[in-house]
Amino acid sequence: MSREVGAHVRPDGVHAEDVLRQIFDASPSAMILVGGDGVIRRANVQAGRLFGYEDGSLVGRSVESLVPERFRPGHANQRAMYFRDPIVRAMGEGRDLFGLRRDGSEVPIEIGLNPIRTAAGLEVLAAIIDITPRKRSEDMLRASLREKEALLREIHHRVKNNMQVVSSLLNLQTDNVADERYRGLFEECQTRVRTMALIHEKLYSSGNLASLDAVDYTRELLQMLTRSYQPVRTDVRLLLEAEPVTLDLHVAIPFGLILHELVTNVMKHAFLGRSGGTLKVELRALPDDRLRLVVADDGPGLPADFDTATARSLGFRMVRGFVRQLDGELTVSRGPGARFAVECGRGAARASTSTEPHQTPPE
Ligand SMILES: Nc1ncnc2c1ncn2[C@@H]1O[C@H](COP(=O)(O)OP(=O)(O)OP(=O)(O)O)[C@@H](O)[C@H]1O
Ligand SMILES: [Mg+2]
Repeated sequence: MSREVGAHVRPDGVHAEDVLRQIFDASPSAMILVGGDGVIRRANVQAGRLFGYEDGSLVGRSVESLVPERFRPGHANQRAMYFRDPIVRAMGEGRDLFGLRRDGSEVPIEIGLNPIRTAAGLEVLAAIIDITPRKRSEDMLRASLREKEALLREIHHRVKNNMQVVSSLLNLQTDNVADERYRGLFEECQTRVRTMALIHEKLYSSGNLASLDAVDYTRELLQMLTRSYQPVRTDVRLLLEAEPVTLDLHVAIPFGLILHELVTNVMKHAFLGRSGGTLKVELRALPDDRLRLVVADDGPGLPADFDTATARSLGFRMVRGFVRQLDGELTVSRGPGARFAVECGRGAARASTSTEPHQTPPE
């Protein structure tokens, strides 16, 4: 059969319509060409397959027949608007789009819109991708993330419970210790364990599994330490000046233990033999993801011959060890009153806590 020579036939004799049809069908995406009246002018093989019209009967249908009923009124409006201002763009950006198959089932899709000007007027070429596999893997990832979060929560919960067991064991042991001095040591070990347990409790109950609200934690730890300290001191004033600071998990434990040592020191040494007294704790966020913790009292101050840099007592060895671990700096002011300031990183720049080494023991 001879073909007309002209715009539809290339110089090599190949009919342009054939080429176009083959390109159209070779596309990996489903494609449909829609007129201003919403009627489908063309549909490729993939479009027929995607929507269940393998018999080629998409052509001549309204494009709205491929839209689930609940979206149809909106779709017709959007289509009219698009024809007034046609540009190349994705359809329904930010929204989940669904197509309606011939059998009534729905398929999640992504659509790119391209205005095409033809002799018949403006038409729109819609390239449609079935995103079922992507949705499925997104759902699987989301489910797996939820599962990991639940596991992490469970682990924090168990670590806290185990620490409570250790604390209870120490408590039972304390009952058998007659010597006041040794009782004190047992009791302090007990509060050290509870200091750590409180971090895990805060983490699993806050909904944030990787970082800790330092202000909330500090407030609760102060209450716990001052209430549990024997003899109970109701005459001591407690001041907390804090601005919002969060701590990464690997910073939280050393931070908690530093705070524990400094606060118990105040309770133990600063208010001895006098009534009244003030314990002041300050928490400030510093630039570069650092923080400043200050623990100060209005007691007699450190003994004149006491050197915090070389002291071999456990409390200061722990403080020095943890401050070093946090790449921090400890400043001690001698008086009047004792004042300890720790400046350190709060770990926000660190991406993961899973590869952290163990908390270092004191030197
Ligand atoms: N806030 C303070 N006010 C006065 N003296 C203090 C204060 N903090 C510490 N000291 C002095 O520093 C010493 C060392 O403190 P450190 O915490 O290292 O040991 P400790 O509290 O005696 O025992 P532990 O090792 O159980 O903590 C204390 O014994 C005390 O004399
Ligand atoms: Mg101490």
